[in-house]
Amino acid sequence: MSHATSPGKIILFGEHAVVYGQPAIAAPLSAVRASASVSAGATGGGPVINAVNLKMRITALDDAHQALIKAVYLALAEANQPENSEIEITLDSDIPIASGLGSGAAIAASTIKAILSYYNHPITTARLSELVYKVEALHHGTPSGIDNTVICYEKPVFFIRGQQPETFRTAAPFEIVIADTGIPSPTRVTVGRVREHWKKDKTRSEALFRQIGQICLDAYKHILEGATEALGPLMDDNQTLLEAIDVSSPELEHLISIARKAGALGAKLSGGGGGGNLIALVENGAGQTVAARLRAGGAVRTLITTIGNDDADLS
Ligand code: MEV
Repeated sequence: MSHATSPGKIILFGEHAVVYGQPAIAAPLSAVRASASVSAGATGGGPVINAVNLKMRITALDDAHQALIKAVYLALAEANQPENSEIEITLDSDIPIASGLGSGAAIAASTIKAILSYYNHPITTARLSELVYKVEALHHGTPSGIDNTVICYEKPVFFIRGQQPETFRTAAPFEIVIADTGIPSPTRVTVGRVREHWKKDKTRSEALFRQIGQICLDAYKHILEGATEALGPLMDDNQTLLEAIDVSSPELEHLISIARKAGALGAKLSGGGGGGNLIALVENGAGQTVAARLRAGGAVRTLITTIGNDDADLS
């Protein structure tokens, strides 16, 4: 029997524009995790996935769960094992699905790690990230690679598509409230919408992406220097641009406005958008107050995390 877990993630700055070559910044979210255990399966059964959240047993014949099956096959191939290997994989996750917190990549990463550990086959983080990227490509055709990177490295990352990711340490920790609109929104839908707008008017879209990229560069500099209060207005500016590229939603904007009125220094959607989660930067120690106001205003769940020491308080 082997066991592995992987964290969720938040994108601090730069989602969507990162697909088009602009920088983005993301951090792991250890308080919510996906986990996978592997044990010997029934003789002649091939791999079977026991998905606890979905209350389902999934086999290779199940078309609806291609991403899970792909993760299993990629791991078996990596460990030089046949596709019909008799293993049972039990998956569990407390990362909400389709909410921008990296559930798909975390499930794939923990599955691959647990299978490789079952066969005592070592894997580097870079290779794990490559395999998870292949699974992510099934969810939406053009992933930038940021989700698999931050989830596999389990460190804050400054990311530009096609370049070696830069993991970094924050000069001063900063507190973030994460709030869930409760509206599931698969990344592929908003990524597809951005692509449609880009195809119709590349000049406009690319100008907006460049502005998002500049915000990321400014934010990265402030994070490395410990000037974290400067990140609030940059989050607000990033949110305005995310609205301009059509990935926000009335529910996100309602909660973002509540966060700002409750004293957040800045707030924006995080991840694919369209629903899912928003993040709000708060003064250190102010997380509980802002989180309570967000829940009173309709957030179905909040999480407070400190970027720089990545421990979180769930409520
Ligand atoms: C999703 O977490 C982030 C997006 O930028 C998509 C991607 O980078 O592949 C929306």
